[in-house]
Amino acid sequence: MRPSVLNVAGAAMALAGLGSAANMTEWKSRSIYQVMIDRYARTDGSSAECEAHLFCGGTWAGLMNKLDYIQDMGFTAVQISPIVKNIEEHTAVGDAYHGYWSVDNYALNDRFGTRDDFKKLVDGLHKRDMLLMVDVVVNNMVQAFDNVVPPKIDYAKFNPFNDKKYFHPYCNVTEWEDPKNYQDCWLYPYGVALADLATETPAVSDELNSWVKGLVSNYSIDGLRIDAAKHINDEFLPKFAKAAGVFSIGEVLSGVTEDMCRYQTLNLLEGMPNYLEYYPLTAAFNGGTFEDLAAIRNEAASGCTDVFALGSFVENHDMPRFASTNEDPALAANAMTYILLNDGIPTVYQGQEQHFKGNGTPFNREPLWESGYDKAAPMYVLTATLNKLRNHAIKLSADYVESPSEVVLADTNHFCQRKGPSGSQVVFCINNKSSKGDSYQMPVNGFEANDEVVEVLGCTTVTASVDGSITAFMYDGEPRVYTKASTLEGTGICQERKAAGPKQSGGAGFGAATGTLMAVGVAWAALFLV
Ligand SMILES: *[C@@H]1O[C@H](CO)[C@@H](O)[C@H](O)[C@H]1NC(C)=O
Ligand SMILES: *[C@@H]1O[C@H](CO)[C@@H](O)[C@H](O)[C@H]1NC(C)=O
Ligand SMILES: *[C@@H]1O[C@H](CO)[C@@H](O)[C@H](O)[C@H]1NC(C)=O
Ligand SMILES: *[C@@H]1O[C@H](CO)[C@@H](O)[C@H](O)[C@H]1NC(C)=O
Repeated sequence: MRPSVLNVAGAAMALAGLGSAANMTEWKSRSIYQVMIDRYARTDGSSAECEAHLFCGGTWAGLMNKLDYIQDMGFTAVQISPIVKNIEEHTAVGDAYHGYWSVDNYALNDRFGTRDDFKKLVDGLHKRDMLLMVDVVVNNMVQAFDNVVPPKIDYAKFNPFNDKKYFHPYCNVTEWEDPKNYQDCWLYPYGVALADLATETPAVSDELNSWVKGLVSNYSIDGLRIDAAKHINDEFLPKFAKAAGVFSIGEVLSGVTEDMCRYQTLNLLEGMPNYLEYYPLTAAFNGGTFEDLAAIRNEAASGCTDVFALGSFVENHDMPRFASTNEDPALAANAMTYILLNDGIPTVYQGQEQHFKGNGTPFNREPLWESGYDKAAPMYVLTATLNKLRNHAIKLSADYVESPSEVVLADTNHFCQRKGPSGSQVVFCINNKSSKGDSYQMPVNGFEANDEVVEVLGCTTVTASVDGSITAFMYDGEPRVYTKASTLEGTGICQERKAAGPKQSGGAGFGAATGTLMAVGVAWAALFLV
């Protein structure tokens, strides 16, 4: 707990637009856009092609120049790939374009720009009242590796851990169920050697704690993602997070409730990306059912201490893109709807809003410039609407964030949820029928008798019946998102509305309506310019 005088100073700084360390409460109400710096934007904005396993040239200045794209989509925080100096070698698994191959913790990665560029980016975010989360690697330092074991490491090249004594002796991680093995041995020795730091020793842990404290304060960082947290000894994590003094999300790649939730129940980490839901959520759109998703949510609600501090995601830089297994745009829209309106901190990985479809690493790291930063793309428009709705619901009532969502329907094809205090609740129904889905009606609970309700993706209206249910008109596999008309006042969402009804003939499925609206907008703009 920080002294209250610091909190007051922190609040004052935030108001002044200078930014300040942010705690868990503040992060829970945010919505995070995840950026891989090398793949987001180049300083000169150019869009020449590049190789997936080499540097593509994205920079901090490039990101700074393109913050409107993120903010206009309603995001209130940005998570970026690691910022410290990496190895320069070309390896059998490519170059260090992603930033995860640290060699010097005290030098910024000049591939991404200068110290001044980085500070300008942080200031730029804070002036927009957006928070910055930085990814940090503390499990290991890295050297190029010729694949001859044991790896020949030149420890003198590392700063600060310039001696063998700071590392675990080489062994390859082979036992993925045995913490001793996967925490003390070296991860994935191929092309690069991930020299495993002995984080259980005071020499290493004191140094990393002092480093992160300096890093956060020198650069006004608001939050951290701790890479490979599961591969670091338990005792290290809470001390490190405390030294950082900001909210931290630690990567625990596990779909098993006990393995994930223990990090919260034992107070090791405040938050983790929600891998528990990631697997059944993805599965539901790949031949599975929403019943499994509902089941794991129940487990997490009782097993974890704080599901609101989990990062709600369906894509990141490590996993194949959602669309890599099924390109149907309606399925992707349903998945996006879920993660933005679910309990937890929505986290969208760059390119998801452009319906990128890259498979495993490095193909899931497509440069965003390939999309032309298209703000009229259907998934971009959807994301903007849902972020706007969530941000507004939080503004109306801070209770929105931590009001536990209630599943109102979960069957093989549907998942419907209600969240938020009565009066400003948001109810959504997702389905896995795809854009070829049939047309039908179904009752959905979550409102009060005679409530005037708006479906915000199609801008249709419906009145709740005496039992508080509304009729959802389902077709083309589209998601449906409902809130009371009064909740939308002042948001600009759905200013034009029509009564809800069955599909009109000639409708072209998800994205068609928004696409048309945007096209009309563009035509108007063109008229004014002439
Ligand atoms: C988090 O920070 C806010 C101000 O930014 C403060 O009101 C709140 O009490 C803090 N919460 C905790 C748990 O420290
Ligand atoms: C390390 O172990 C993995 C299995 O976890 C195996 O696939 C890989 O070949 C091993 N690599 C080396 C260099 O021993
Ligand atoms: C932060 O700044 C201090 C003072 O200049 C410096 O000694 C320290 O090494 C810096 N820490 C990091 C991580 O850059
Ligand atoms: C949706 O769920 C049903 C029932 O589990 C399943 O048969 C179908 O394959 C799923 N659809 C998709 C696109 O995965």
